[in-house]
Amino acid sequence: MDAILVVGGAGYVGSHACKALALAGYKPVTLDNLRTGHADAVKWGPLVEADFGDVETVRQTIREHGIVAAMHFGALSLVAESVAEPARYYANNVSGTLRLLEALGAEGVGRIVFSSSAAVYGEASGEPIPEDAPLNPINPYGETKRVIEGALRFIGQAQGLAWCALRYFNAAGADEAGEIGERHEPETHLIPNVLKAVRAGRPVKLFGSDYPTPDGSVVRDYVHVADLADAHVAALKFLAGGGESQPMNLGSGEGLSVKQIVAAAERVLGHPIPAEMGPRRAGDPPCLVADPTRAKHRLHWAPSRSHVDTLIRTAQAFEATRG
Ligand SMILES: NC(=O)c1ccc[n+]([C@@H]2O[C@H](COP(=O)([O-])OP(=O)(O)OC[C@H]3O[C@@H](n4cnc5c(N)ncnc54)[C@H](O)[C@@H]3O)[C@@H](O)[C@H]2O)c1
Repeated sequence: MDAILVVGGAGYVGSHACKALALAGYKPVTLDNLRTGHADAVKWGPLVEADFGDVETVRQTIREHGIVAAMHFGALSLVAESVAEPARYYANNVSGTLRLLEALGAEGVGRIVFSSSAAVYGEASGEPIPEDAPLNPINPYGETKRVIEGALRFIGQAQGLAWCALRYFNAAGADEAGEIGERHEPETHLIPNVLKAVRAGRPVKLFGSDYPTPDGSVVRDYVHVADLADAHVAALKFLAGGGESQPMNLGSGEGLSVKQIVAAAERVLGHPIPAEMGPRRAGDPPCLVADPTRAKHRLHWAPSRSHVDTLIRTAQAFEATRG
């Protein structure tokens, strides 16, 4: 059973990846400092509570568990916070990751799958975005992802480290069995916030109704977290089979507006959801939709749970388990 180091495996996407790895016959070894993650989300392998910038502990973990490859989900990832505290974002997401790469190199780990983001593209044209679109991040969070993609290119080459940078669009939904789900604090993502507002019996806050989109609200590409997890396992196999190091978009390829998501939630939950429309949020591009052709061809991956009703149904089922 190959052991995989899952950095940030106590978080939302990382915990779903641990489950997918276990189902595919790997042993996920989570390394997480629990800053935004949850120890009780680590259910499919051991948890090493540590910072990924702690070279000695990472090296020791690699040796102890016979790690053959890594997945790196660990990051601070709140856009507004990154604007307010850029140095903290560079320190964690960039400096910490460089130390993680150093530890992998020192122990001869030769493969890594890195969580990048659509935030590397910045303001996009409105058309589905291919991987060779210009990278123009408009906030420190997106910039830290762009910097690490560049570091992977050069350090990977020098160190013999094969890599995939998976640029997720909007992760959503929860484990079909309800074992894990989205638990960010604060929560900035639309679907959990709609569900939280419904639970609390208050109107959901929406931002901006005057964007140049068909209904005036922003359009995003939502992809189910378990589909993302499957893509990570596929990327690991792709690299093990000698696949070329590269970035790949992970999205459904379909755009849905904020208003369409709320309408879908009304349909799935079976009742109206009152909404309060506020002004635009700074730094929100009108439309971000993936062109996921590359991942489809090279990873033989296709999202199978990313229909909006499934996103909402699984997120709601998880939310309901939380008491
Ligand atoms: N959720 C999304 O929609 C989305 C979209 C695009 C990209 N991403 C990226 O995917 C990754 C996972 O996102 P998520 O939503 O699961 O976030 P998350 O906050 O739930 O998970 C991140 C995990 O990393 C851990 N971590 C952070 N810094 C650490 C450090 N220095 N040492 C050890 N552990 C550390 C946290 O404790 C947490 O468990 C992130 O890199 C994020 O930037 C997420």
